[in-house]
Amino acid sequence: MRRAIVHLGAKQLTYEIRQIVSVADEISSLGKDIIWENIGDPVEKGAEIEPWMKEIIMRLTAENGSYRYTASQGDLETRKFLSRRLEGREGSDASPDDIIFFNGLGDAVAKIFGFLKREARIIGPSPAYSTHSSAEAAHSGYEHLTYKLDPENAWLPDIEDLRNKVKYNDSIAGILLINPDNPTGVVYSRELLQQIVDIASEHDLFIIADETYCNLVFPDVEYTYINEIIGDVPAISMKSISKEYPWPGARCGWLEVYNRHTDEEFDNYILSLINAKRLEVCSTTLPQLSIPLIMGDPRYPDHLLRQSRTLSARADEAFDALKDIKGIKVIKPQAALYFTVLFEEGILNDRQSLKIDEPEIRAYIERVTAGMPLDKRFVYYLLGAEGICVVPLTGFCSELKGFRFTLLETDDEKREKIYRAIRSRVEEFIS
Ligand SMILES: Cc1ncc(COP(=O)(O)O)c(C=O)c1O
Repeated sequence: MRRAIVHLGAKQLTYEIRQIVSVADEISSLGKDIIWENIGDPVEKGAEIEPWMKEIIMRLTAENGSYRYTASQGDLETRKFLSRRLEGREGSDASPDDIIFFNGLGDAVAKIFGFLKREARIIGPSPAYSTHSSAEAAHSGYEHLTYKLDPENAWLPDIEDLRNKVKYNDSIAGILLINPDNPTGVVYSRELLQQIVDIASEHDLFIIADETYCNLVFPDVEYTYINEIIGDVPAISMKSISKEYPWPGARCGWLEVYNRHTDEEFDNYILSLINAKRLEVCSTTLPQLSIPLIMGDPRYPDHLLRQSRTLSARADEAFDALKDIKGIKVIKPQAALYFTVLFEEGILNDRQSLKIDEPEIRAYIERVTAGMPLDKRFVYYLLGAEGICVVPLTGFCSELKGFRFTLLETDDEKREKIYRAIRSRVEEFIS
C-alpha cells in the first residue's frame, strides 16, 4: 500500500466471546459436539419467544409502515412511550428528543467511542464487557483505562481505585459502569452508584450507564436506575431489547440521555451522535415499533418476572455445583445471564491439563495452548475434553484469571450435566 491504512487502534479490537468460536469449530470438525456456553443469546440456547409477543410481531409484519425508514433518532411514538415511562419514575427524565435508537447497543457503543474526541478517555470496569473496553481502547489508541471490580467485595467497584485514577488522570472525561454487570452479574447498590455520581460531579465528567440487564434483576434484589440518582450530572443510559424480550437478532437498542442541556460540550457531543445516525438514515424500524406494544402489554411484567426467577434458580444451581471447590472463588450473581468463576491467585500453572481421549483433539489443544494466558489454557482444555465452550476472564479486559459461562441452557438435565462437568474438570485441572 502506498499509505498505511490500518487504524492505530485496530489491534485493540478483540472479542473473545466470539473469537473462541473458531477454536470450537476446529474441535467440532475433529468430531466433538460443542456445547455453546460462550454467548448471551437466550434464543440460541432454546428460549421460547412468548406466543403473544410473536403475534404482535406477526401483526406488525403485515403492515406496510413496518417496511419504511423511520426517523433517524427512532420512531417518534416509541420514543414518546419510553420517555413517558421515565416520567413515571423518580429522577431525571429524557424527552423523546433525548432518546436515540441504534442497530443494537453494539452499534451504539461504536458511535459513542467513535465520535468521542481521541484524547478524551472513558474509564470502565475490569473485568469488562469487551465490546466497551475494545471500542474505548481502539478509539484512544491505548490500552483501555479501568477501575477494579473487587472479587473480595462481591465484585463491586473499588471506589478508591476509581477516585484516584480519575483524580490523577485529567484525560478522563467520563465513567462507564455496567449495572447489572456482565460478566459478574453484580448489581450496584444505590449508595455505591451515588458515590460514582459524586466522583463524576466533582471532576466534571459524564456517565455512561450500560443498563442492558436492568429488567433481568433476580427477585428480591433491589435495583436503582442511574437516572434516579444522577442529579444534574450529564449521563447516558444504554438499553436494549436483546436480552429481555429476548430478541438479540432484532439489533435494536437505544440511548436515554439525561441532563443533556446542563453542559454545552456534552450537548454538542450528543448532537454529533444524532448527526452520525442521520448519515445512516435510521435504525431497524420494525423492532422499534414493537416496543410500545410489547413493553406496554399487561403480560410483559409477568414475563420479566418469570425470566428472572428462572435465571435466579439456575444461578443457585451453578453456585451449589461449584461453591466448595478449593482453589476457586464463586460469587452468586444477582442478575443477568452469566456465572463467573475466579481461579485463586497462584493456583494455575502452564503444566496443567485435562485428559482428552481423542488423540487428534489432544494434539490440537496441546499445540494451540502453548504460551497462552493460564485461564485461557483451562478454557481450551475444557473445550477439547468436554466440548463445553466458555470464555476466559482475561478475555474481559482483566488480569484476574477465571471464566464465564451462561445460565441459559433450557434443558434441565443437560444443564445439570454441564455444571457437573465444569466442576469435575476444574477439580481435575487444579488438583
Ligand atoms: C453489557 C452489555 N451491553 C451491551 C450489549 C450489546 O447488546 P446488543 O448489541 O445486542 O443490544 C451486551 C450484549 O451481550 C452486553 O452484555
